[in-house]
Amino acid sequence: MTICIRKYPYRLVIVVLTFFLVSWMMLFIKTGPVSRTTTSRYVQIGDDDSISTLNQPGFIPLINNRKLDGALQQNIPNVTFNTNKNGKHERNSPYKVYVYDLPPKFNVNLSDCVKKVDGCFHLDEKMFGMGSRLLRRDSQFSYRNTHQFSLEVILHHKILHSRYRTMNPKHADIFYIPFYPGLACFCRSFQKSSFDLDLLHKELWHYLTEKWPFFEMREPHAMALGKIEREHWSQRCGILKGNKYANRIQFIGIEEEYKTAYRSYFERNGQHVLVAPYPSYGHFIEGEEAHRNDFTKGAKYDRNVFVLMAASSRASHEVRKILQDQLTRTSKSYNTYVNTEEQYDGVWYVTPECGQNNAAWEQGTELFTVEWMRHSVFCLQPPGDSPTRKSFYDSVTAHCIPVIFLPEKARVKYPFQRLLNYSEFTVNFGLETFLLEKPDIVDLLRKIPEDYVIQLQNNLLNVSKRLQYSYPSNIDSDDAFQMILDELGAIYKLQV
Ligand SMILES: *[C@@H]1O[C@H](CO)[C@@H](O)[C@H](O)[C@H]1NC(C)=O
Ligand SMILES: *[C@@H]1O[C@H](CO)[C@@H](O)[C@H](O)[C@H]1NC(C)=O
Ligand SMILES: *[C@@H]1O[C@H](CO)[C@@H](O)[C@H](O)[C@H]1NC(C)=O
Ligand SMILES: *[C@@H]1O[C@H](CO)[C@@H](O)[C@H](O)[C@H]1NC(C)=O
Repeated sequence: MTICIRKYPYRLVIVVLTFFLVSWMMLFIKTGPVSRTTTSRYVQIGDDDSISTLNQPGFIPLINNRKLDGALQQNIPNVTFNTNKNGKHERNSPYKVYVYDLPPKFNVNLSDCVKKVDGCFHLDEKMFGMGSRLLRRDSQFSYRNTHQFSLEVILHHKILHSRYRTMNPKHADIFYIPFYPGLACFCRSFQKSSFDLDLLHKELWHYLTEKWPFFEMREPHAMALGKIEREHWSQRCGILKGNKYANRIQFIGIEEEYKTAYRSYFERNGQHVLVAPYPSYGHFIEGEEAHRNDFTKGAKYDRNVFVLMAASSRASHEVRKILQDQLTRTSKSYNTYVNTEEQYDGVWYVTPECGQNNAAWEQGTELFTVEWMRHSVFCLQPPGDSPTRKSFYDSVTAHCIPVIFLPEKARVKYPFQRLLNYSEFTVNFGLETFLLEKPDIVDLLRKIPEDYVIQLQNNLLNVSKRLQYSYPSNIDSDDAFQMILDELGAIYKLQV
């Protein structure tokens, strides 16, 4: 590539100049008068007294507090999928995205389907897919029963409310396909033979190629993948499997397959997933002043647990077995633990898997995990069935420094690495060396100088907002969704 450029420097200069000129003209034509008045429409959550009295430090579980949840919800405008009213009042944005108005069988019906058959999904539309229950609320953070595979629903809602959205496909730079391929997969496993996923995929390609010209015109198209990439080419889910249409789409997903042999076998070589955070339980609340005692402000919040691993008892990876043996195992909540136990150096909090121990989930297991993380300095994030895990993002929002074990000879992608330097807020131990030497994890982490730990905590504090999805979805936020838009803009060279 560099060689070509050297050979034809004049051509390159002309191409670049033309590109800038055209981009500038497009911007000029599209943006029109800037309307920032929309801010006044934005809801101010927290006006309600019942909420502000709860802005106290310490542990205030809000499970079953329907009143509070109600108060939060009342202020949020209803989500509508098929509106076409605001066409004239598009807000200013660096580029425009058109969201296809797909028939409900491609999205809403799928989230309804998984909600009915699997108690672990709470994809309430009013909550923007972020979980139907508010488990805890601090002034700037809410914790919800967000499902780790809800990215498809969350991004759909975010883009519907985004200032990047255009109602006119002719104004669009990127087309968003709001199909829920991961949820379709779950739906299929539950409904078995009555659900024809292959047919649904065919109908999607038919819609894209026949209803509008843009897909055939090779305009940029983007779509979310709620499960890890590998599963989306499995026999069961298969939207990526040997599919000529799929390779025309820029997927936004929670994990890109890192094994190059797999990638080439499934003809995904040269195709990259835009890696996005798994949805965490924690959501930054936009449009709210920081509270003096907000725990999220303080990285040095009373953290008496030095090393924590929150993981189920299933040893899905060898490194987990090693760590399990080194840590003190408990199923107790943090509060019960501090009153009865004395060992705080290394704790393994055993989380129930969803589907098991429904009573624990009914009580808000999510919150117990968060509470452990909030009191820990380091949170171990060992690989499991795949190299990345959702818990990483929970520890980020709880400001517990994630400890990762990256393979030394392969490249596991984390979100937005072009813009974020992970060495500044995580600790990485090479996987192969760790497996070989089996060092004591607590001793190892104790060797890190305290100054450096504090620096990591401060950097984590700075970055955490950008690795979560802010709530509600109808207010602009400097969050993971904005990072996704920035990355899409960079991929399609839409931001000058
Ligand atoms: C949202 O919908 C509910 C019922 O579905 C209705 O009571 C409420 O007034 C609506 N809110 C807004 C802001 O339209
Ligand atoms: C989707 O859901 C709507 C409303 O529940 C229902 O009327 C429709 O038949 C469903 N469509 C399919 C294809 O299941
Ligand atoms: C990332 O941060 C680490 C630790 O501060 C530093 O050594 C490294 O040079 C940084 N990398 C980049 C690309 O800035
Ligand atoms: C926090 O992040 C912003 C935006 O990336 C950066 O400009 C700033 O330097 C960071 N501050 C610290 C203390 O790292």
